[in-house]
Amino acid sequence: MDILTHRHGAVLAIEFNRPQKKNAFTSDMYVALEAALREGERDDTVRAILFHGQPGVFTAGNDLEDFMKRPPQSMDSPVFRFLEAASEAAKPLVAAVNGPAVGIGTTLLLHCDLVYAGDDARFRLPFASLGLVPEFASSYLLPMVAGYQRAAELLLLGEPFDAQAAYAAGFVTKVVPAAQALDTAREAARKVAALPAKSVRLTKALLKGTHRDAVRNQLQVEAGHFRAMLGEPAAREALSAFLEKRAPDFSKIS
Ligand code: COA
Repeated sequence: MDILTHRHGAVLAIEFNRPQKKNAFTSDMYVALEAALREGERDDTVRAILFHGQPGVFTAGNDLEDFMKRPPQSMDSPVFRFLEAASEAAKPLVAAVNGPAVGIGTTLLLHCDLVYAGDDARFRLPFASLGLVPEFASSYLLPMVAGYQRAAELLLLGEPFDAQAAYAAGFVTKVVPAAQALDTAREAARKVAALPAKSVRLTKALLKGTHRDAVRNQLQVEAGHFRAMLGEPAAREALSAFLEKRAPDFSKIS
């Protein structure tokens, strides 16, 4: 099973479990992620949801081979259904990040309420270097939390950055020693799950409130570009290069 769920009292933990591929998400994994998240939202005994990978790996983002073979065709595709479910979740979302958190591994955090990064975490937003565009409303949320220039650097240059830089960019709650990230996140999830559920839900709704429509709109606009760009020569070259373990050559592609 590439996605596992665990219950710790009122906390539902959703574990990415494909370490041999750095937890890269396939379409089937998005289906499982959406199902787990929606079940957590539906179940009244769940009061917080925690995302984590294994020691040393959060997720390498979209599985690039799966993306080439089974590109998302519409907003009803597994990836977009998961993005919608996570961006509209009413219950608190907590994340423990260790190791690589690439692409959606970073943009998912913009939708989480409490994010604990180990000092081994390595973030990256490589959309432009893959011939793609930002997703998960990150082109809206990242400038909002990080400021325009910092967001532009992270989204245009797409270079890796560490946990301190992610903290400075505003989407990590706290940086902790690598071995403590999961326990710290679990403890925070347990604490928030022990609070009056309705107050927590309303507080989150109020925090997200003014941006809800803008996030939904940006997510859809990005998704339209993302789907179109996946079929273009630059993305084909970048994805092929990744699979063939070589550097991409964009010199003849506009
Ligand atoms: N899609 C598909 N396979 C992936 C993957 C991805 N996003 N990320 C890693 N893998 C696979 C590798 O191809 C490799 O498979 P192999 O053992 O069959 O050759 C395996 O996972 C281990 O990855 P590797 O690159 O050897 O690990 P690493 O520790 O050297 O580097 C990363 C880890 C995450 C930095 C690196 O794998 C990477 O940059 N991945 C691509 C991330 C990306 O661009 N994601 C898309 C965002 S939209």
